[in-house]
Amino acid sequence: MKLPWILIALFCGLCSGSTERRIRPNEGKIFEWLGSILLPSTTTTTSTPVVATTSTTTRRTTTTSSTTSRTTTSRTTVANFPIERDCVTCRCGLINTLYKIVGGQETRVHQYPWMAVILIYNRFYCSGSLINDLYVLTAAHCVEGVPPELITLRFLEHNRSHSNDDIVIQRYVSRVKVHELYNPRSFDNDLAVLRLNQPLDMRHHRLRPICLPVQSYSFDHELGIVAGWGAQREGGFGTDTLREVDVVVLPQSECRNGTTYRPGQITDNMMCAGYISEGGKDACSGDSGGPLQTTFDEQPGQYQLAGIVSWGVGCARPQSPGVYTRVNQYLRWLGSNTPGGCHCMPYPEEDY
Ligand SMILES: *[C@@H]1O[C@H](CO)[C@@H](O)[C@H](O)[C@H]1NC(C)=O
Ligand SMILES: *[C@@H]1O[C@H](CO)[C@@H](O)[C@H](O)[C@H]1NC(C)=O
Repeated sequence: MKLPWILIALFCGLCSGSTERRIRPNEGKIFEWLGSILLPSTTTTTSTPVVATTSTTTRRTTTTSSTTSRTTTSRTTVANFPIERDCVTCRCGLINTLYKIVGGQETRVHQYPWMAVILIYNRFYCSGSLINDLYVLTAAHCVEGVPPELITLRFLEHNRSHSNDDIVIQRYVSRVKVHELYNPRSFDNDLAVLRLNQPLDMRHHRLRPICLPVQSYSFDHELGIVAGWGAQREGGFGTDTLREVDVVVLPQSECRNGTTYRPGQITDNMMCAGYISEGGKDACSGDSGGPLQTTFDEQPGQYQLAGIVSWGVGCARPQSPGVYTRVNQYLRWLGSNTPGGCHCMPYPEEDY
């Protein structure tokens, strides 16, 4: 049985030391990376947003008239955003504290400042990652068919049970864009972007987007961190506080052959991470949509978004690693579907 991780992560035990550090991408790679994010965004505001809005709202046709009018307002808001905005210079992927990660622990408050809580009807549903000042990236299965007006995003959240409205930044969603080829049976292309009703200020001293991943990089054997408010064990409930667990990315061949999954289940758009033989550490119910993040080499405090928590069989079982959406398969799609967003860069400006 295959379950999407609508609810989050199981934390325990020992860390595996098998990390293979990625070297920093060479200049060519950086420009490729930048090109894939920045170039399409100037050309693609035309028809896709309308299609997206239409499809996400018509899946639930029981919308009331108030819903309809709000959708109209948000469309206007979208149209009013100039595509060329004055963007501040900022760095992505920097954490707020440089504490060493141990498997399965509570994170420092605001350690991963791109984490977004996704509420639907004001109830915790999934997580997402801020990827620029105007868009959150999450799993398609979290938001497919959900009208944007039912979604609330909360940033700088840590303990969800503790009211801290003076710190938490809240936004609504003006558009839900689910990947056109998302397949709810196979979970292929399990990603969606949410456009905020209002951009976030990237000069904020804590809030920051995560970097998009390096293109064409496999992440095989990399140590990644999954963060979320999901369950700590199979069948458990979500947690109050943001937690993290470290997992190792498996080579595609290992996940297709050495696990309970059939080779055809693991598409090129997915990546597996966990511990095949011992299990024990994994994402779980409630972690869906959240990040599988890895550091850039030479910048241990700086993270890129390698994967999105997507699905798995149970949680942390041996031979059933977590399966994640492979984000660097979608850099061009993200460029096309995040018009108007201001990106922060992975390296200091002088390095470009
Ligand atoms: C979260 O906040 C609630 C309410 O203030 C508190 O009871 C709970 O112990 C906190 N959880 C953690 C893990 O600190
Ligand atoms: C799959 O794994 C088994 C056992 O580890 C091995 O004997 C076999 O050659 C592998 N098959 C492929 C296609 O990699």
